[in-house]
Parts: sequence; C-alpha cells; structure tokens
Amino acid sequence: MFDADNTAETLPRARSNRPPVMEIRDLNLWYGEKQALIDVNFDLHESEILAFIGPSGCGKTTTLKCLNRMHDGTRDLRMSGRITMHGQDIHGEDVDPPLHRRRFGWVAQKPNPFPMTIWRNVAYGAQIHGITRDRAELEAHVEDCLRRAHLWDEVKDKLHTMEGTELSGGQQQRLCIARALSTKPEVLLMDEPTGSIDPIATAAIEDLMLSLKPDHSIVVVTHSMMEARRLADRVAYFHLGRLLEIGPTEQVFTAARSDEARRFIAGKFG
Ligand SMILES: Nc1ncnc2c1ncn2[C@@H]1O[C@H](COP(=O)(O)OP(=O)(O)O)[C@@H](O)[C@H]1O
Ligand SMILES: [Mg+2]
Repeated sequence: MFDADNTAETLPRARSNRPPVMEIRDLNLWYGEKQALIDVNFDLHESEILAFIGPSGCGKTTTLKCLNRMHDGTRDLRMSGRITMHGQDIHGEDVDPPLHRRRFGWVAQKPNPFPMTIWRNVAYGAQIHGITRDRAELEAHVEDCLRRAHLWDEVKDKLHTMEGTELSGGQQQRLCIARALSTKPEVLLMDEPTGSIDPIATAAIEDLMLSLKPDHSIVVVTHSMMEARRLADRVAYFHLGRLLEIGPTEQVFTAARSDEARRFIAGKFG
C-alpha cells in the first residue's frame, strides 16, 4: 500500500531511475469553440500500464489521440502545450508524422480486423511499413506477433484459410493486438479494449496486456474500475476535460485527493 502523499507518485520513477517515455505538458485542445482538454499534464513511464478513468465525454479518448498525433488533419481542431517522446517534441519539424505514428499501436473498443485472412491481418502493417522484406522473416514475425497476442495456438492451422472477421469477438480483439504489434510499437494505446467482449475473453486480454508490459508502455481507457485495479500501475482520473488526479493505482482507489474522483470511484464500485 502506498502513502497518499506526493512521494508515492515519484516512487515508480525513482525505482526505475529512467526518464519518462513521454511527457505531456499544459495540453489544451479545442474542437471548434468547444474546449475538450484543459491543462492536461502527465508522464508516461517505460514498462507501465497507465489507466485513464472518468465519466464519458471527459477527454480520455481525445488525450489518447494526442499521443500518436491521430488528430492531425482534423478540421477546426486547435491544440496548445507540449508533448515530448524521449525528450523530442512530437510536433517538431524534424518529426515525420507517419514514422511517429508507427511507434504506437492502437486498439479500439470494437474489434476491427481487416476483411482478409488472419495471416494478412498481421503481415499487412509489417509489409507496408517495411519491417521486413524477407519472406521467411515475415513468416517468423507474424508467428511471433500472434504468439505474443496469445492467439497462435488457436489459429495456426487456419492462418491462410480463415478471415480475421470470422473469429470470435475475443479472438478478433487478440488479432487486432497482434496487428498492432506488427509494426514493433513502443507504446500501446487501448481505448476500452475489453468494452465489447465477454468476461472470459476479457480475462485473456488482461493477461495479454500484463505480458506485454515489460516491453511496452500501455495507456488503457477503461470503464471498469475492477479492470483498472487489476491491471494498472497508475491511474489517471479525468473530469470535464481536466486530468484531476494521477497516482499509483491503490492510492487513487483508496485515498483519492479530489472529491470528484472519490465520488466517481465509490459510485462505480457501489
Ligand atoms: N471530433 C469531435 N468533434 C467535436 N467534439 C468532439 C469530437 N470528439 C470528441 N468531442 C467532444 O470532446 C469531449 C471529450 O470527448 P472524448 O475525448 O471522446 O471523451 P471520453 O473518451 O472521455 O468519453 C466530449 O465533449 C466530446 O463530445
Ligand atoms: Mg472515449
């Protein structure tokens, strides 16, 4: 159990003694006239699962999309603040947006495999991003991604004969995770990845996320407080566009500083 004071927040960083992977500072974002993010600040650490929680419409997805520059090209959208990755401004002139985006895997709430074979679903990204041009290497890479997504044993006999869309919902979501891994991302962004699948499939996805943590930073939006508590190293609570509170999971769940977070958590558990 952590003490509910400021030192607890610095513990994981002090332990790993590594600079953050990403630093988000004074992030503000407007959709037209409507301000969706207000002074959002947080760090993302190496090998951690950071969960975003909070009521709907409070800016969780919007924040996630800022990290991989998914808002690029959105009309009437304005942003201010600074986001760095390994110390480099992600909006700097020297940053190539497609290359930046490739450092991230995205997993959506609803599994959305491509209408192609299981194998092609995973090979596609690796091919278009030139991860490998060698056929044998590509075969090995696809197998590796499917193994790391805990799906290999279930699909190894139908890689080329079954479409991704024919799998069960939970399998489809693991396929989407394998696909996200295919470009060798450093950060995984997961927007309610278990929001549309059953509890058994959810358990499989949660296991998988924990197994990916040593090699990735994972930001996951979840509406399940149980899930946040099982998975996350740290939790960030969003409220009306502000990141009101961030800290080690147990601290936020047992001793949140803000009334808003305490009320939200009590309501969701109660
Ligand atoms: N493309 C968009 N255009 C205009 N408003 C948007 C758009 N996307 C989200 N919003 C608004 O921004 C706010 C934050 O949304 P969002 O980040 O999706 O919240 P959450 O993921 O926490 O539910 C909401 O008020 C939402 O209606
Ligand atoms: Mg959302």
